[in-house]
Amino acid sequence: MSQLSQKNASFAKQEKAGVFISTYGCQMNVNDSERMLSLLEMMNYTPVASPEQASLIIVNSCSIREKPVHKVHSEVGRYRKLKDRNPQLKIGVGGCVAQQEKGRLMKDVPLIDFVFGTDAIDELPEIVSKALQGENVVQTKFEHQKPYHIETLVRNPGVSTFVNITKGCDNFCTFCVVPFTRGRERSRPMSQLVDDVARLVDRGVKEVTLLGQNVNSYTSDCGARFGDLLKTLAEKTAIERIRFTTSHPKDFNRELVDIMQAYRHKIMDYIHLPFQSGNSEVLERMNRGYTREEYIEKAHMILERMPGSVLSTDIIVGFPGETRKQFEDTLSLLDEVPYESLYAFAYSPRPFTKAARFEEQLSEEEKSERLRELLDKHNEIAFKLAKKYEEKEMDVLVEEYHAENSKCFGRSTQNKSVHFKGSEDLIGKTVKVKIKEAFPVTLRGELA
Ligand code: 5AD
Ligand code: SF4
Repeated sequence: MSQLSQKNASFAKQEKAGVFISTYGCQMNVNDSERMLSLLEMMNYTPVASPEQASLIIVNSCSIREKPVHKVHSEVGRYRKLKDRNPQLKIGVGGCVAQQEKGRLMKDVPLIDFVFGTDAIDELPEIVSKALQGENVVQTKFEHQKPYHIETLVRNPGVSTFVNITKGCDNFCTFCVVPFTRGRERSRPMSQLVDDVARLVDRGVKEVTLLGQNVNSYTSDCGARFGDLLKTLAEKTAIERIRFTTSHPKDFNRELVDIMQAYRHKIMDYIHLPFQSGNSEVLERMNRGYTREEYIEKAHMILERMPGSVLSTDIIVGFPGETRKQFEDTLSLLDEVPYESLYAFAYSPRPFTKAARFEEQLSEEEKSERLRELLDKHNEIAFKLAKKYEEKEMDVLVEEYHAENSKCFGRSTQNKSVHFKGSEDLIGKTVKVKIKEAFPVTLRGELA
C-alpha cells in the first residue's frame, strides 16, 4: 500500500456518501479534481452526477480571468436550499480562488465549511474529516520548499490522460495571477515520471499529456531538462503518444524541436505556443521575455524543422495602454504565423499583479471590440488552413465510440478532433482515417 493510501485508509470507515465536484478553468484544475475524487474514494465517497445527490460539494475554482470570486459566491449561493434541507451537507472551495481569497471566502459566504488551496489537495481527507466534525477549516499554506513528489491519481485513465510534471510558475508575467495562486515552480523527479507513465501504460493508457504552466523550464533533481524528459519517456516507456502543454516561447529552443522531430513517432506534432501580444513594447510591459521578431523567428524555426507540425496560441487584447497600432501588430502576427487554432481573451485585471496597477486601463467596450475583430480575422484564416487536410490520411488514436450513430472519435497527431464511422473495438487503437470534410477544430472522415 502506498503511503498516501495508508494515510487515507483510516478515513475509510464512514458510510458511502456522494461527492459532487464542480470544476472551473484549465486542464490543471481538471486533473486536480480527478485527484480529489481519487482521494475521496479512499474515504468511501462516491462521485455523483448532481449536487442534489451529494453530501459533500466541492467547487474547484479558477481565477485566471473575469469575476472569479463572484462565480464562487453565486455557485455556493445556489446550494443554500440543499443545505437548509440537509444541514449535514458540507461545502468546500478549492483551487485558485481559494488560494487567493483564503479565509475571506468563508467570512463572506458562511455556507462554506472549508477552504483549501492549490497545495493542500493531498490533505483533503484530513480537511473533510475535520469539516465533518463541525470544524471550519482554512488550509491555504504554500509548501514552497517541499519537493514535488506526487503520483498521478486518476480513477479511469482511459486512452489518454494528463500527467503533471511541474507545478507553479516563477515567470511573473505582469497580467497573470498564477504565480500567486499556484506558488513557486517545482518539478517532479524524472525517475518518478518514468515510473508513473509506465504504470499508466499498464492500465491501458496510450497517450499522456504532460502538464505544467511552463513545461520548458522543467528541471529534474538529477539536472535533466524538458528535452531529456521527452526523450527518456519516449525511449524507456511503452507509451505510444506524448503531448505537452503549455510552452513558453522564451524557453522553447532548437534543441527541443530537434528532439521532437527525432522522436516524432511518439512525440506529437502539435505545439501550443502563446504569444500574448504581437507588439514588442507591450510584450516588454507584460514581462514575457521575448520580442515580436524573436517569437516569429522561433515559430518559423519550428515549422521548418518539423514540417507539417501545427501551432496554436493564446492572445490577450486590450492590455493596459495597448494602442490601436499595437493591437494591429497582434492582428498582423496572424499573417506571419499560421495558427490553426487560438484562444483569445480580453485583458482582465487580477489581484496582486503589476498590470492591474498600470494606468490607461481600456474600457470593456474597446476590449470586446478588439477581441471580436481578432476572432473574425482568425476565423477566416483557420477555415482556409483546415482545407489542406481534405483527402489526406491521418493517424487517429481512437478514444470513444458512440453506438447511437456508430461513430468513433479520436485525435490526430496534430491534435485535431476526428469523427468517422467505426466500431467499439477500435478504442485505444491508432487507425488511418481519410479526411472528407475539414473545419478548424473538427475533421470528418472515413476509415482508410
Ligand atoms: N486577462 C486575460 N487573459 C489572461 N490570461 C492570463 N491572465 C489573463 C488576464 N489577466 C490568458 C493568457 C494565458 C491564458 C491561460 O489565459 O493568454 O496564456
Ligand atoms: Fe502566467 Fe506567465 Fe507563468 Fe504562464 S508563464 S502561468 S502566463 S506567469
